[in-house]
Amino acid sequence: YRNLRIALLGAGSVGSQVARLLLEHGDELAARVGAGLELIGVAVRDVDAPRDTAIPKHLLTTDAVTLIQSADIVIELMGGIQPARDYITLAINSGADVVTGNKALLATHGPELFALADQVGAQLYYEAAAGGAIPIIRPLRDSLAGDRVNRVMGIVNGTTNFILDRMDVEGDSFENALAVATRLGYAEADPTADVGGFDAAQKAAILASLAFHTAVPVEAVHREGMTTVTAKQVEAAAKAGFVVKLLAICERLVDPATGVEGVVARVHPALISRRHPLAAVHDAKNAVFVQAEAAGDLMFYGAGAGGTETASAVLGDLVSAARRHVAGGPGVGESTHANLPVLGIGAVTTRY
Ligand code: NDP
Ligand code: HSE
Repeated sequence: YRNLRIALLGAGSVGSQVARLLLEHGDELAARVGAGLELIGVAVRDVDAPRDTAIPKHLLTTDAVTLIQSADIVIELMGGIQPARDYITLAINSGADVVTGNKALLATHGPELFALADQVGAQLYYEAAAGGAIPIIRPLRDSLAGDRVNRVMGIVNGTTNFILDRMDVEGDSFENALAVATRLGYAEADPTADVGGFDAAQKAAILASLAFHTAVPVEAVHREGMTTVTAKQVEAAAKAGFVVKLLAICERLVDPATGVEGVVARVHPALISRRHPLAAVHDAKNAVFVQAEAAGDLMFYGAGAGGTETASAVLGDLVSAARRHVAGGPGVGESTHANLPVLGIGAVTTRY
């Protein structure tokens, strides 16, 4: 029975739960993998900072570089672009597979990191980067790889759904609802990423790239946040039978100006009919509709944010990475062969 050495970068909302679950259920996961999963260290900024869960003190370190160089699998849950980008690059170059939930990094530097991983035969797993606990990356990349996806539309940011839901159901204020979402560990370190629609735009870029086998840069995603949505508008929408949701919509469209078929991705507040299934997505839950030519309509629903919930997706990736180490062979691969044009069309409609 071989031991795989696991390095964890970050022990915040998600990382602390990954550490807890790995320490609590390590034996069970090891049996599924056919190898031991040894947490060799947890890199943080401050080893003395209070944490949600008790991580043995001897595992905490501020020396991420040495930790990465000793690992078979590196789990990056620090967030942000740097030093996450350098650490993931180092991990790949050191021969480790990488698991990350860092959509900000993937939406901006994903192609470069996937190319590097391909070059050295490493694998980058990122199920937690969109939809929190919801399995949506694998279905788009693997299960639907034989189909033709036409549209991906959904609620992909838990914080803003939590805020809009509290404004709608309880008449809560934006500020108060955001403070609660932050306390519950849903919001990004800088919540502007959530309320400004940046986080949803990063997820839209990731989902569109997978769905349409085309590299969709985050700059090509039309983005409007939800900070301009007022309590009065939410109330007026409710009276008219609608609920306001921040939607991410990625679709295959023909540009009316040129007749060229391409990909459009956009994020903006939209009016959803109370009868629409997306209207029933409450709290920090997410839901993603996928419309595919042969499969028809599919819906994926679940916790879009939260430490424990997201840790489920991270540990699923860890099991996949560990199985690959044990069995050898190629990884799943990323495909952007279709290379459709990305059309600069903004909000086509805001009512569903
Ligand atoms: P937090 O801000 O709660 O935690 C970040 C952790 O990273 C902290 O432990 C921090 O250390 C550590 N860290 C930050 N910078 C450094 C550095 N330079 N060197 C070493 N350690 C560092 O983040 P979350 O857990 O909320 O999110 C982590 C990632 O997961 C992000 O990419 C986020 O987008 C993604 N994600 C988050 C979800 C959520 O619900 N929160 C859901 C899905 C994805 P210290 O504790 O010492 O400050
Ligand atoms: N801040 C993000 C959200 C975390 O609220 O959805 C999950 O990606």
